[in-house]
Amino acid sequence: MKVSMFRSGMLSIVCLGLLGLLTACDQSGSAPKADAPDSAEDASARTADPGAREGGLPCAPGSKCLKVNSNGAPNPSGTSIAQCSEGASFPDYIVPASYFPENYQGPWFAGSMDFPQQEPDLGPLPWEEIDFWEGQEQANAYIYALREYSFEGNIEVDFRVQENSIRPWYTIPYMNYGPGRRELVHGLTKERSVTGPELGLKPGVTIQNYAIGFYNAGGGYTTGQVWQAVTQPDLSKAMMQNGTMVFKILFTTATADDFENPDDYPLAGAPEWQIATGSGELTTVRLMQMDVAVRDARAEVNGWVFGTFAYDGDAEDPIAWNRLRPVGIQWGNAPGYTPTDQQEGKPLPENIVSDEIPSYAAAHLGWAGRVNGPVDNPVSACMSCHATAQYPVDAALAPFSSKCDTDEKKLQWFENNPAEHAFGFIDSDTCLRGETPDPPPVSLDLSLQMQVSVQSILQYNDVNPCVDAPEAGRAAARSAIRSTDAPRTLRGGDAD
Ligand code: HEC
Repeated sequence: MKVSMFRSGMLSIVCLGLLGLLTACDQSGSAPKADAPDSAEDASARTADPGAREGGLPCAPGSKCLKVNSNGAPNPSGTSIAQCSEGASFPDYIVPASYFPENYQGPWFAGSMDFPQQEPDLGPLPWEEIDFWEGQEQANAYIYALREYSFEGNIEVDFRVQENSIRPWYTIPYMNYGPGRRELVHGLTKERSVTGPELGLKPGVTIQNYAIGFYNAGGGYTTGQVWQAVTQPDLSKAMMQNGTMVFKILFTTATADDFENPDDYPLAGAPEWQIATGSGELTTVRLMQMDVAVRDARAEVNGWVFGTFAYDGDAEDPIAWNRLRPVGIQWGNAPGYTPTDQQEGKPLPENIVSDEIPSYAAAHLGWAGRVNGPVDNPVSACMSCHATAQYPVDAALAPFSSKCDTDEKKLQWFENNPAEHAFGFIDSDTCLRGETPDPPPVSLDLSLQMQVSVQSILQYNDVNPCVDAPEAGRAAARSAIRSTDAPRTLRGGDAD
């Protein structure tokens, strides 16, 4: 714990100084949130040049830095730190103070949450002419078109997407609470960890994985509509327009030493980031996977195509980010298709596994060979997991439970439904569909980030420290919706 002293003075909102110094941390110069009198002393403390302060600051210059409880509620003796960018309605990060490396001088993650208020014209999209369902060549061309669109203007700004000069990208609010919360350097959230021998790791060795996703203006517009009232989501606005695209880059702590055979290490030369995940030190992580999802009207099942890439250390592209190779694409759940069908060599519908897939990813596909990535749980697949996106959260993401012990039970997750159709209820005690509770859950259009976001505010009572009255109207929003005791949504899913 680095907070050794605390000044309870005129300022109601005070942050820790990283050298144990006493530092007022409302860096924005805006009015204090609580009931402190706005004295001249306060004003000068708040407008002093943050960069001039000794020992660095827990938040970015120009932002507001607040002491909060872990659920985000402002509290002068709270042990977490929240950053609110200037003028922002949502926090960038809310993390325990102990996560900051000593004397930390940045960079600090800032979300891109200034959402468009008008439905955007997404223009001609480079993948729209490619018939992805036709075969290998088209599927590869399609997913590479998505990657190129995602990377344009972002590699040069190291994915600080606000600085992208080609097109806007947005992050989802409220991924700030619980064990998966955004960290403070790049805004990564925690993904499923993997323990050897899975993925060729030494038995018992566990690697941690982290990611961040960005939506194009289509998803940004929808998110802004859902969160128009900043702490009261409007779930009826969650459907996304054609052309909405989202990509997610995933990083791992894995090093060559973690692999049973270090020659099999697939990540040589991969892009690296440093993040702050709790040890009080920076941790180096490397790019391993990139997920994409796009709303394409030609995808007949639910209007979405999902796809993924795995990093390939043997690829020779001069820009390391481009060494990601396709794993495959998926535009349906292949209902009824079981591991027995796979063993008998029956073709897997609505999925194309790429002929460019790196070998470690080919050995790690989803259930019965469906498309899935290196960090993902093999009893699942991209689309089946995402098709559970709904609120209230009435079912597990996948048949993780030991109760889901037959193909028939597992196949409940692999049905094809329209996107408006909420997944519904599965009883965790039996792994069977019981009667759907009333009122039924609402579909969140396959966005599990939206599910994380909505669940934080409606179910977990998490608080937005960046607005003046986070509670206003929230009780009403909650009571309008049935409650559940569902666990927080995490990609992990090694339950049982
Ligand atoms: C076991 C469940 C699970 C599986 C399997 C899974 N995901 Fe996700 N995915 C999640 C969760 C939970 C989130 C939200 C939390 C986060 O982003 O960390 C998410 C987020 C995403 C996002 C960000 C936008 C959104 O829809 O939430 C994309 C894009 C995505 N996943 C694509 C994929 C692709 C492509 C695959 C297959 C390679 C895949 N996912 C497999 C659970 C899963």
